[in-house]
Amino acid sequence: MKTKQNMKSLLWFICYLMLFVSPYSTEGCKTCRHFVLKGEPVAISCPTFYTDYNLTWYRNGSDIPVSTERHSRVHQRENFLWFIPANLEDSGFYACNIRKANSSDKKYVQLSVFKNDNDLCFNETTRFDQKVFTLTAGKITCPLLEYFKDENNTASEIQWYKECKPGLLEDTRFQPLKGEPYLTIKNVTLQDKGNYTCLTTYMHMGKFYNVSRTINLDVEETPVKKKPEFIYPNNNTIKVDFGSHVVIDCNVSSGIDGLTPYWQVNNSDVDSFDNTYKEEFYEKQSSHGLLIAGAKFNISKVTSKDYLYKFFCHVFYPHGHATVYIKLEHPVPNIHGYLIGGGVSLVFVIVLAVLIYKLFKIDIVLWYRKSCHIFLFKKVSDGKLYDAYVLYPKNQVSCIYSPDIFALKMLPEVLERQCGYNLFILGRDDLPGEAVINVVDETIHRSRRIIIVLIPESSCYNVLEDTSEQQLAVYNALIRDGIKVILIELSKIKDYASMPESIRYVKEKHGAIRWKGDFSERSHSANTKFWKNVRYQMPSRANIAFSEQHLLPKTSSSPQTPVLER
Ligand SMILES: *[C@@H]1O[C@H](CO)[C@@H](O)[C@H](O)[C@H]1NC(C)=O
Ligand SMILES: *[C@@H]1O[C@H](CO)[C@@H](O)[C@H](O)[C@H]1NC(C)=O
Ligand SMILES: *[C@@H]1O[C@H](CO)[C@@H](O)[C@H](O)[C@H]1NC(C)=O
Ligand SMILES: *[C@@H]1O[C@H](CO)[C@@H](O)[C@H](O)[C@H]1NC(C)=O
Ligand SMILES: *[C@@H]1O[C@H](CO)[C@@H](O)[C@H](O)[C@H]1NC(C)=O
Ligand SMILES: *[C@@H]1O[C@H](CO)[C@@H](O)[C@H](O)[C@H]1NC(C)=O
Ligand SMILES: *[C@@H]1O[C@H](CO)[C@@H](O)[C@H](O)[C@H]1NC(C)=O
Ligand SMILES: *[C@@H]1O[C@H](CO)[C@@H](O)[C@H](O)[C@H]1NC(C)=O
Ligand SMILES: *[C@@H]1O[C@H](CO)[C@@H](O)[C@H](O)[C@H]1NC(C)=O
Ligand SMILES: *[C@@H]1O[C@H](CO)[C@@H](O)[C@H](O)[C@H]1NC(C)=O
Ligand SMILES: *[C@@H]1O[C@H](CO)[C@@H](O)[C@H](O)[C@H]1NC(C)=O
Ligand SMILES: *[C@@H]1O[C@H](CO)[C@@H](O)[C@H](O)[C@H]1NC(C)=O
Repeated sequence: MKTKQNMKSLLWFICYLMLFVSPYSTEGCKTCRHFVLKGEPVAISCPTFYTDYNLTWYRNGSDIPVSTERHSRVHQRENFLWFIPANLEDSGFYACNIRKANSSDKKYVQLSVFKNDNDLCFNETTRFDQKVFTLTAGKITCPLLEYFKDENNTASEIQWYKECKPGLLEDTRFQPLKGEPYLTIKNVTLQDKGNYTCLTTYMHMGKFYNVSRTINLDVEETPVKKKPEFIYPNNNTIKVDFGSHVVIDCNVSSGIDGLTPYWQVNNSDVDSFDNTYKEEFYEKQSSHGLLIAGAKFNISKVTSKDYLYKFFCHVFYPHGHATVYIKLEHPVPNIHGYLIGGGVSLVFVIVLAVLIYKLFKIDIVLWYRKSCHIFLFKKVSDGKLYDAYVLYPKNQVSCIYSPDIFALKMLPEVLERQCGYNLFILGRDDLPGEAVINVVDETIHRSRRIIIVLIPESSCYNVLEDTSEQQLAVYNALIRDGIKVILIELSKIKDYASMPESIRYVKEKHGAIRWKGDFSERSHSANTKFWKNVRYQMPSRANIAFSEQHLLPKTSSSPQTPVLER
């Protein structure tokens, strides 16, 4: 903070120097004016750009060079013209004669010596104008003291007066900066307006001389409405490449003169965080009449530590303090591409999953039933006794396909023995003597599926041709109870036209599973495609309540179960 203040003061100082000394430094300057109060010392320099020259001072119109004797009241010391002290009659023009190797040049300056106004310690015309703002920390600069150092190059202490009266520092808001030509004022008020005189002494040849400057201090009310607003940054992040060069800028606009934003990181000023960071300050007028103040620094090569911290830009103003930050980030390589890539692969995965499911649906469902068997176990019975009611054409000895062998041997072997289903096969499980129509009706209602084994009409007769009761029962079961029917063709059936309407309906709606195997050992495996298809259409084994499973014989062909239940 201190360095910033100093910086600021230096700017002010240069400003005032320019204001009063500018004639010195312009070649086109005809007459450069200097002011001094009667009785005070003054040193005058020659307005030239040359560096390597010999110089001689003359009073205007005189050929006699000014004395170089130090004890003389008016003398030349180094290249300066000294009056120690100045008298009223010293007012007038002076010439400095510059001699270079081949050329010579002559410049004129004017000195005006004033006497104090009545009863005052200054003359109004010699005042310096300075301005501070209410409610801010103000600063008064005592100008043009740089020549008045003693032989040890130290300046004497400065006393401050207001309206030529001492006692100013009794108000603790006023603080002189030790060793510096400044007076600071905390929390400036309108009453601080006035004539401030700074007084120091200059010792020459054992005598002390007063050196005074008077500042006409103007106090302007701070435009409280135009609080500083950050233009940039705004708590944002920026993406910068590792090792790149980056300029980090902070700027505020406000109605307040003299604000200085500054950067901090990791709780210290940026230039103490990394001494390669060079912070620069700038000020300008915006097109809206507001003032823009800024601070920026360069990171010549971004290193990993620069990504760790937030960089804070602070600005203090009359009613407070505002902060914003910026953070550096590693650039994320092409998010857009990632999103598109991700989307494409997601779609691909979904398509693949759907495809796999389509292809291996049956295996997946069977595997799922098997592996989730334990969890799916239901204690509540659905009231059904059999997993399937098997209907097949009986006693077809002439038939080349063997529905008897299929229904009475293969079905029980695979579905009952290997898969643990419980089947009702008419002709195996019904009691002799029982009315067929009763058994069929009862049993179908207690079954979860109906398996109908079909054989082509040409080779054998129709499955249900002579049992219209059965047909009726199947029809009822289908329509009334919505029991699922599994059609198994023992060989390809070309013409369904002669089949009963219910069969045609089932075939149309759910299709049929065709038996392509023989009656060899291999075809007895529950893992062949045909049996997987059948198992897929069969109910999940989990639907079968535990108690029922134990009650019912699995492989036995004993017909007693329906009786037991009744
Ligand atoms: C200045 O004067 C000294 C002698 O007084 C002389 O030696 C020197 O060359 C002069 N320099 C110039 C630039 O004239
Ligand atoms: C002083 O110098 C000026 C040139 O700047 C000249 O015009 C004028 O006559 C001189 N006056 C006196 C009193 O020497
Ligand atoms: C000064 O004069 C000498 C000879 O008189 C010449 O060689 C030299 O270039 C001149 N220098 C300038 C700066 O004119
Ligand atoms: C200031 O100094 C000048 C010159 O010495 C003098 O004439 C004048 O009366 C003084 N006071 C004011 C107010 O100008
Ligand atoms: C300058 O310094 C020397 C040694 O430090 C001291 O004796 C002398 O008094 C000083 N002069 C002034 C004017 O302070
Ligand atoms: C500054 O002065 C004003 C009134 O002049 C007062 O209200 C305010 O509290 C003071 N602020 C500080 C920080 O002293
Ligand atoms: C400052 O001094 C001038 C006279 O040189 C006087 O008119 C003015 O009132 C003074 N300012 C204040 C605030 O007293
Ligand atoms: C210097 O100024 C002070 C305070 O105004 C005064 O008491 C003293 O007499 C002055 N000294 C000279 C040599 O003018
Ligand atoms: C403020 O800083 C940002 C960032 O460097 C810059 O783009 C903008 O032009 C600056 N605004 C003004 C008014 O200087
Ligand atoms: C940040 O500040 C802490 C505490 O002051 C210090 O230990 C650490 O070294 C700093 N980090 C860097 C990168 O300067
Ligand atoms: C900051 O970067 C700018 C542009 O590259 C350059 O002109 C300037 O000199 C740099 N300043 C510092 C202090 O490195
Ligand atoms: C930015 O961050 C600073 C410090 O974290 C916070 O005080 C300020 O309110 C923030 N500004 C905005 C606009 O979010």
